[in-house]
Amino acid sequence: MEIAKRFDEASKTYDTPDKIERAKKTVKILLDKLPVNKEWKVLDFGTGTGTIPVELSSFVKHIVGIDLSKGMLEVFKQKIKEKDLKNITIKQQDIFKEDLEQKDFDLIITSMTFHHIENIKSALEKLKKYLKEEGYIVIIDLDKEDGTFHSSNLDVKHFGFSKEEIDKFFKESGLDTILIENFDSIKKERNGKERDYPLFIAIAKK
Ligand SMILES: C[S@@+](CC[C@H](N)C(=O)[O-])C[C@H]1O[C@@H](n2cnc3c(N)ncnc32)[C@H](O)[C@@H]1O
Repeated sequence: MEIAKRFDEASKTYDTPDKIERAKKTVKILLDKLPVNKEWKVLDFGTGTGTIPVELSSFVKHIVGIDLSKGMLEVFKQKIKEKDLKNITIKQQDIFKEDLEQKDFDLIITSMTFHHIENIKSALEKLKKYLKEEGYIVIIDLDKEDGTFHSSNLDVKHFGFSKEEIDKFFKESGLDTILIENFDSIKKERNGKERDYPLFIAIAKK
C-alpha cells in the first residue's frame, strides 16, 4: 500500500486530544518567537488533518495546507466547515511531483512529515523556493529514536533527527538557524512499558 492510502486509513483515528494540545502549543511558540501578523501567508507541508492551521488561522492572512492523503484532507475539510474558517486553502498534492505556483510565503511549517521524506536536503531546498526573502521555515519532528515509535516502519525514512543533523540541513540549504529545541513529547506503550519520545521544534530564516 502506498503512503497516501496508509494515511487515508490513519485519518479515521488521527485526531486525538494530545495532537490538538500540541498544535496549540506550537502556535504559542510561533507567536512568541516570530513576528507573526495578519499579512502573513503560510504553507503547511504535510498538513494532515490541519491541526496546526486550524489553531493558527486567526493570526495570519492565509494558509495553504498541502497533503498527499485525501482521507486526512477530508477530516481537515470537515473542521474548516464546522469552524467556518475562511482563510485556509487545501491542496491534495505531492510537491516533489508537482510545483507550487505560489512563491511568496512568509512562513512554511512542516510537522511530523520530514521523517517520511527520503531526501531532506532536497525537500528543504524545494520549500525554500516557496519562501519570501527573510521568510521562516519551521520543522517539528521526533528526536532520534530507535525505530520503535511507529508500529510499522514501512513509510518511515528516518528514525527521527538529531539537532546537529537539522542544523546541518538548514546550513546546507542556505538557511539561518534561529532555534532548535525540545518542546513536547509523545508517550507510547512499548513492550508493556511507557516510552517517551521527545519532539523538537526547529526554526530557520531565509
Ligand atoms: C504524521 S502526518 C502529520 C500531519 C500533521 N502535520 C501533524 O503534525 O499532525 C504526516 C503527513 O504527511 C503527509 N505526507 C507525507 N509525504 C508527503 C509528500 N511528499 N507530500 C505531501 N504530503 C506528504 C502524509 O500524507 C501525512 O498526512
